[in-house]
This record gives sequence, C-alpha cells and structure tokens, in this order.
Amino acid sequence: MIKGLIFDLDGVIVDTAKYHFLAWKSLAEELGIPFSIADNERLKGVSRMASLEIILELGQKSFLPEQKEELCTRKNDLYLTYIHQMKREEIFPGVREFIENAKREGYLISLGSSSANAGLILDKLQIRELFDAIVDGTVVAIAKPEPDIFMKGAELLGLPCRQCIVFEDSVAGIEAAHRAGMAAVGIGTKELLPEADIHLSGYLDITIEKLINDIRRYK
Ligand code: BG6
Ligand code: MG
Repeated sequence: MIKGLIFDLDGVIVDTAKYHFLAWKSLAEELGIPFSIADNERLKGVSRMASLEIILELGQKSFLPEQKEELCTRKNDLYLTYIHQMKREEIFPGVREFIENAKREGYLISLGSSSANAGLILDKLQIRELFDAIVDGTVVAIAKPEPDIFMKGAELLGLPCRQCIVFEDSVAGIEAAHRAGMAAVGIGTKELLPEADIHLSGYLDITIEKLINDIRRYK
C-alpha cells in the first residue's frame, strides 16, 4: 500500500530545468561547445559536476579538476541570478493543491532532489511547509541515477521503499526510483521517459487515488 510520495523539484514542481539549461548553454557557448535542448535531457537529475562532464564530453574538451570546479561555480552563479528573479507564481499549476490534497488523505510527502539549491527554491515558492521530509544535494551528495536520495526520503518518512512512489522528469531520476524499488510517475512524455510506470503532463484534474489506481492497472 502506497503511503509516501517523493517529489523531485527541478522540472516536477517548477520549471527550473529551463534555467539550468540557459546557464549551461551560456557556459558551453563560452567554451565553444554546441549544446542543444536534446543534449540537455541527459543533464536532468544528475549532479552539477556530472552535468559539466557530459558537456565537456560533447565538446571533447578536458580540464584540470580545479578548472572544472571553477566552471561549475560560474554556472551556478549564473543559474542563481535566474533563481533570485523567480516568482512564487512560477510553480506548476495544480501541484500545490495536489500535494495538499494528498496530505489530507494521509500521504506523507518528501522532496527528493539532487540540487544543492533546493532550499532556496522552496523558499522562493513558499512551499517548504508542504514537506514532511526534505532530501536534497546538501543532505545526500550521491546524485541520481543512484537510488540514495529516494532511499533517504523513505527513511525520513519512516516508510519502506515499496510504500513510496516517485514523481520525476528525468531519465536518471526514473532509474534511481526503480533502483530504490519504487514506482515512478514520469512528468513528461513517454518518448522522453520511456521507463516511467505512468506519465502525467500536469497536475490538474488528477487525484492521488486515481493515479495510484492507474499505476496498478498499467503495471
Ligand atoms: C537536479 C537537476 O535537480 O539538480 C540537474 O535536474 C542539476 O540538472 C542537479 O544538475 C544539481 O543541481 P544544483 O542546483 O545543485 O546545481
Ligand atoms: Mg528534475
């Protein structure tokens, strides 16, 4: 029986994925590396350094470890300029209500994000109080596709992994959920997230009961 819902943040609760893309794109341009929206799918969910490694591999460039640290810092500084301007209204339509309804039904809610900036974004959106547990890149440094972030979320909720489901927009995150033994709701299309157990394009007109029934039916 499902008792816990674990939500990724970037691309699941708010479209910060586009700000990650814009910041990486600008860094890639400086380095003379072509970087497309399609390439960006591989960066979703994975750590900041793993993202840089993917971009450097695309451009067949190599840097010393301290230079890579500096590039990551520059990307993050640029990313934060977008985040500081972000408005509370940028939260995806219906997600706050969906979580509030699930809480009223007795489900426990955790955040499960690879980002070290998650706390700032939760505060910008004023949704910190929605979560019974918060697991982000400052709590668990081992990013997706490793299952550690979601396993920690279940542990903090006091639930076995099999009683949790994950909401994810990234290929790495769907893999992490499955490796943790959890069903994965893909926020996005079947084409982008072929391994997700079920797909949602948004949170309007869906209830947690219907979603859980649908997962059982389709599995
Ligand atoms: C994930 C994003 O949520 O967090 C990734 O999908 C990002 O694109 C990762 O690399 C780490 O985020 P941050 O904010 O610590 O650089
Ligand atoms: Mg995401």
